[in-house]
Amino acid sequence: MNRKTLCYCLLLFFSCQSNEQEQKDVLTNMSKPSMIQISKNAFGTAPDGAVDLFKLKNEQGMEVEIITYGAIVKSIKVPDKTGKIGEVTLGFNDLAGYLGEHPYFGAIVGRYGNRIAKGKFSIEGTPYSLATNNGPNALHGGIKGFDKVIWKAAEVPNGVALTYVSADMEEGYPGELTITVTYTLDKDNALKIAYEATTDKTTVCNLTNHTYFNLAGSGDILDHQLMIKADWMTPVDETLIPTGELKGVKGTAFDFRMSKPIGKDIDAEEEQIQIGGGYDHNFVLNMKPRTRTLIARVFEPSSGRTMEVLTREPGVQFYTGNFLDGTIIGRSGAIGKRSAFCLETQHFPDSPNQSTFPSTLLQPGEKYETSTVYKFGVKND
Ligand code: BGC
Repeated sequence: MNRKTLCYCLLLFFSCQSNEQEQKDVLTNMSKPSMIQISKNAFGTAPDGAVDLFKLKNEQGMEVEIITYGAIVKSIKVPDKTGKIGEVTLGFNDLAGYLGEHPYFGAIVGRYGNRIAKGKFSIEGTPYSLATNNGPNALHGGIKGFDKVIWKAAEVPNGVALTYVSADMEEGYPGELTITVTYTLDKDNALKIAYEATTDKTTVCNLTNHTYFNLAGSGDILDHQLMIKADWMTPVDETLIPTGELKGVKGTAFDFRMSKPIGKDIDAEEEQIQIGGGYDHNFVLNMKPRTRTLIARVFEPSSGRTMEVLTREPGVQFYTGNFLDGTIIGRSGAIGKRSAFCLETQHFPDSPNQSTFPSTLLQPGEKYETSTVYKFGVKND
């Protein structure tokens, strides 16, 4: 049996344990052998060791670059309506940029994406305490979260799988957690991010990817048109911790059920918009649990580029780069306010302290398994 056949057999075996959509993906891959070119190059040395860069490229010219530091998506280049391939993410050209201060550009965020109130939670009566790195709260996995560690990488069909073992009590979280994040590209300009994790003690786990998108490649994102399939959102207090209520989006700035420009209501007088300084909120997605479905669509008129987001997660944090202020110099200059947006698919912020939110507990013997797809295209009007 050659290597490719063995990979297909393994994929088929594992697909028996996943959902219908995953099985369809595997069968599609089986009938169409990989057309994705994968290359690997050195990308410099971080204090913890050497960093590699993987480039995935398909026949339409779409390119995705991933580095082993932070499992970061360094770059995504896709065609515009004229066929010209261009950058649609924020990031840096060199490793020094990623080692410096930045708000999680392209990174895998964990062990807990978004905020945990006051950095405190309990599991089965045992209290745990995390570093408070965002005002009074814990944000995005701690001082040295998964965005700042070096992941082990291995090439897989159409992509790269990155693994990290987070020690028991690392950043204050219980249990040794073994995580694999697999990025794959397909021939139709879809980047899939598949997440898996297991633990040896009960813990909390909420992983996401923090790529900042600008489908025009530059300027602000106020003219991008966005649709989010969410009837509800989770309002927050002044420290951006959910109050625990669900608020209907109807008649508010948060109503993206019909596509509208991101800038239309971004400065509305509404309390929630004022607290976030724009959008920085979790939307409660209308979906069947654990089934990957289309949850958001973005269209940028000048380039004609579109992006669809599909996920199995119950929520998406829509963040409009309100804290970007021009002080960070990215690959094409100073990064200004609202020059990109994030659609971070995940469980709701502060779930470990909110008994009515979907649980983020992971038990030994269980497998955390989820996936998100960012699919790019073009439209002419
Ligand atoms: C948070 C923002 C934060 C940004 C960068 C988003 O997920 O909701 O409040 O500023 O990440 O850390």
